[in-house]
Amino acid sequence: MAGGHRVQSLGGTDVASMAALHARVFPDSVLTRLGLEALRRYYLWQVDGPHEVEAFGVVGQGGRLLGLVVGGRFRGSMIGFVKREAPFLVGCVVRQPHLLVEERGRRAVRSGLGLLARPVRRTQVERPERVPDRSFGLLLVAVDPEAQRSGLGRALLEEAERRASAAGMERLHLTLDPTNWGAMAFYSGLGWQRLGVPGDTDRQWLMGKDVVAS
Ligand SMILES: CC(C)(COP(=O)(O)OP(=O)(O)OC[C@H]1O[C@@H](n2cnc3c(N)ncnc32)[C@H](O)[C@@H]1OP(=O)(O)O)[C@@H](O)C(=O)NCCC(=O)NCCS
Repeated sequence: MAGGHRVQSLGGTDVASMAALHARVFPDSVLTRLGLEALRRYYLWQVDGPHEVEAFGVVGQGGRLLGLVVGGRFRGSMIGFVKREAPFLVGCVVRQPHLLVEERGRRAVRSGLGLLARPVRRTQVERPERVPDRSFGLLLVAVDPEAQRSGLGRALLEEAERRASAAGMERLHLTLDPTNWGAMAFYSGLGWQRLGVPGDTDRQWLMGKDVVAS
């Protein structure tokens, strides 16, 4: 229980629910536009890949996933996904060539092709420079639009901090688009700060919070 909400661990059997929640929360994201199967494979890579990752969330009536966090120490959250699913992803783009009409879609395809050409360092935990090795990275914090502003996000971040502390982590970090005013207010109100270290750009702020040992 966190903040009155029952938070439960999620795993490989929950990836379809994670995909569906992602599509509801981020309807315009390139991954959502690629389709539910692409999202399902994305989450399967995150919970099943060579990472030290925890996925947890709050499930509402009828088993509907209302809130989700995927966090921990990742080894190629995006590059590993793109490499593992390259033929499938190429097929998605071929079936939806309109994605390439938009700059955002073209940028995603360019960056995907760039990742394909790069070697994967399986042993390396991904984290921005000058963020401690023992930092718990949040890949995603998402609350169903119909359940927002009812304390779920706060409860999920409390749980993330509890799990990070239990895993001996010193800090939590995530990247955030600074024009996402609601999320910015949410994180600032919970004591998160812009870290201002390399990896932080005007378009993607690197935010962090020290773990308070529990
Ligand atoms: C950001 C997000 C996770 C917050 O979850 P939530 O369950 O709505 O947040 P909570 O109800 O726990 O809010 C806690 C406090 O944060 C602040 N807050 C949350 N959302 C806010 C908003 N849109 N505008 C201003 N303040 C906000 C408020 O102070 C709120 O307390 P209050 O409701 O008592 O005033 C959720 O809105 C979301 O999933 N947004 C879309 C996805 C996203 O942007 N994720 C973050 C990027 S990783």
